[in-house]
Amino acid sequence: MTETILVAVAWPYANADIHVGNITGAYLPADVFARFHRLRGNRVLMVSGTDAHGTPITVRADAEGIPPQEVYERYHRRFLDLFLKYGLAYDLFTSTHTENHFKVSQDIFLALKDHGCLYTETEKQWYERGKGRFLPDRYVEGECYICHYPNARGDQCDNCGNLLDSTQLINPRAKGGGELELRDTEHFYLDLGKLAPDLGRYLGAGKDHWRPNVINRSRQDAAELRGRAITRDLDWGIPVPVAGWPESGKCLYVWFEAVIGYFSASIEWSRNHGTPEAWKDWWYDPGAKTYYFIGKDNIPFHAVIWPAQLIGVRRLYETDPGKTLNLPYDVPANEFLNLEGQKISGSRNWAVWGLDSVERYDPDALRYYLIANMPEAKDSDWSWAEFVARNNNELVATWGNLANRVLTFAYKNFDGRVPDPGDLRPEDIELLAKVDAGFAGVGQLLKAVKLRAALSEALRVASEVNRYLDVRAPWSEIKTDRAAAAKTIYTALRAIDSLKIVFAPFLPFSSETLHGYLGYDGSLFGAQKIETFAEPARTHEALTYDPAGATGQWQPSRLKGGQPLRPPAPLFKKLDEAVAEEEVARLHEKR
Ligand code: MF3
Ligand code: ZN
Repeated sequence: MTETILVAVAWPYANADIHVGNITGAYLPADVFARFHRLRGNRVLMVSGTDAHGTPITVRADAEGIPPQEVYERYHRRFLDLFLKYGLAYDLFTSTHTENHFKVSQDIFLALKDHGCLYTETEKQWYERGKGRFLPDRYVEGECYICHYPNARGDQCDNCGNLLDSTQLINPRAKGGGELELRDTEHFYLDLGKLAPDLGRYLGAGKDHWRPNVINRSRQDAAELRGRAITRDLDWGIPVPVAGWPESGKCLYVWFEAVIGYFSASIEWSRNHGTPEAWKDWWYDPGAKTYYFIGKDNIPFHAVIWPAQLIGVRRLYETDPGKTLNLPYDVPANEFLNLEGQKISGSRNWAVWGLDSVERYDPDALRYYLIANMPEAKDSDWSWAEFVARNNNELVATWGNLANRVLTFAYKNFDGRVPDPGDLRPEDIELLAKVDAGFAGVGQLLKAVKLRAALSEALRVASEVNRYLDVRAPWSEIKTDRAAAAKTIYTALRAIDSLKIVFAPFLPFSSETLHGYLGYDGSLFGAQKIETFAEPARTHEALTYDPAGATGQWQPSRLKGGQPLRPPAPLFKKLDEAVAEEEVARLHEKR
């Protein structure tokens, strides 16, 4: 049965480049999961975009002395470029700075207001007298009143991860050192207390498939809910759709509107494809499953506050009173990736940057290491020595060499064709059965979003094929019994044809290449491109995935004898041991 699956991926802030920690934290697991479900023939919609508003971007703009718009545009382009190069196949990677997103966010705000889920309150907010402006929470720093970490940000503590009330910080100070005072300002609040019973029911049952840390954390947060301000004194963002509010310099809070992006992007995608109602299949069909791929610092926003927003809205652009918006089916948040034993830090330049990494290494080599080392259950560490070792000993030795030696041997000894095997021997049938079983094993793990285990299972299947080849030794077999060698090589080709699919969600580039070497035309997945979309008052660029011509299917090979092969070449490159030292030296140099 075809499943309907929304792959919702965290929206990167347009204030910094993306590093490998961000990639393995959210974007790459989402892509692997989406590719797997596409191969299974499921209806996948994978959406995200640039998180264009809010203080992180104005901080950056201030630092560079340029308008926030320029900052947003620069990083947005770089994200598009990176995702193309890493093969992160979003159906739509848009941004929160579109007319569509403004409209949808304002409509959600108004629906919540109509349903009595918002209230206003005058609160005290930090005001920087020197600059004559209210200070967003992110501009305020001080000691966390929960864990006593000395450098907590006003909105969230980087140490304990808790969302904070900036006015409760101990020894608060302005980020630039300016003097602070508390002044009155009026804001809209999301009435989380009112939504708490429904939220409790949502988080209370049917969450056995959630990662334990995610559900435990969310239940804890939900138990302590109070109202949360959803507007800010800021002019870079979406105007509050209430008379008089935009004039007084108030915007929707970036976290309130950015999560709405999953919904607005689904609508945008549907319009772009000439099927303006299609998004309802993901958002209103109770059988659809929605997965949110995020890093652990984003858990409260996605597993608690976003569901509360959806519960409060109930339905939008849908008149059937029996329908309500789908709540997250799973939030498989990842932990953090460290780098050479230290926390990644963009500002201290202790990072492996995505665009830089893909200048020097193949995307599949990077993807392999990032999945094999994904911080699914606990923090993990990027070590350049391990990157080189795992590339050489696993990716190249177990999978790349297997494909290469079989293809080269077949191409040379059997006239560039898949040999005709005649009847297979029991040991051939036994190997193919093991490979076929790999689809079930790897598939189960991918379905459960256990990507590390899934990749290691795929590699184990490849090792079985290596063992079979070592035992059959077709290079000797061919000298005495050409027919026996033909059976062996046919069997091995068919096994790598299957492994091509099993590895495809993880390593899409090399699987496409291998598909060609095996003599097939066309593509497993289709293509991606950057498109410019015109809206009435804006144009914007977005990354789109075009599945036209995609032929890949999650099923065992049915390779036929006689199929012409194409001249093969190695799928992956062995890396020199010296690479690790060079890269570590480069890291230290840049600091
Ligand atoms: N920009 C946020 C971050 O990088 C993530 C936002 S996810 C969203 O941590 F859904 F809220 F957009
Ligand atoms: Zn803390």
